[in-house]
Amino acid sequence: MAELLVLNGPNLNLLGTREPGHYGAVTLAVIEDRLAQLAAETAYSIAFLQSNGEREMIERIHRAATDGTRFIVFNPAAWTHTSIALRDALAAVGLPFIEVHLSNIHAREKFRQRSYFSDIALGVITGLGALGYELALTAAISHLQS
Ligand code: DQA
Repeated sequence: MAELLVLNGPNLNLLGTREPGHYGAVTLAVIEDRLAQLAAETAYSIAFLQSNGEREMIERIHRAATDGTRFIVFNPAAWTHTSIALRDALAAVGLPFIEVHLSNIHAREKFRQRSYFSDIALGVITGLGALGYELALTAAISHLQS
């Protein structure tokens, strides 16, 4: 059980080598380490999941409703632009979440400019690279403290 849950969608396991022009050179392991460190400086526990399977991600979100999770930081990756099922899962559990993207999805192809998550997210951080996750976690913690 962890109060903060950081979720990453498909292909984000390849960060570090995947299209560094869009996504930078930092690996997901490094990002998760930084977030774990940030959480450790607070009283909040943190858990992570990266999945390439939509079913696994939906089931993890369902579990978050009852496992003590209080806030989700989510980079849905390509599911941002396709997944009504994941949107519905987040709406169903009703937990606050921040949507994060490494690249600025609004400055890219038209098909990336629509998100199925933004209008139900507490906030969206897009285009700030790996720093975006740290900013999102800081905002999440501040939200829980307020
Ligand atoms: C992404 C942007 C998406 O369009 C893309 O499919 C990703 C990563 C980002 O972090 O910039 O996989 O979510």
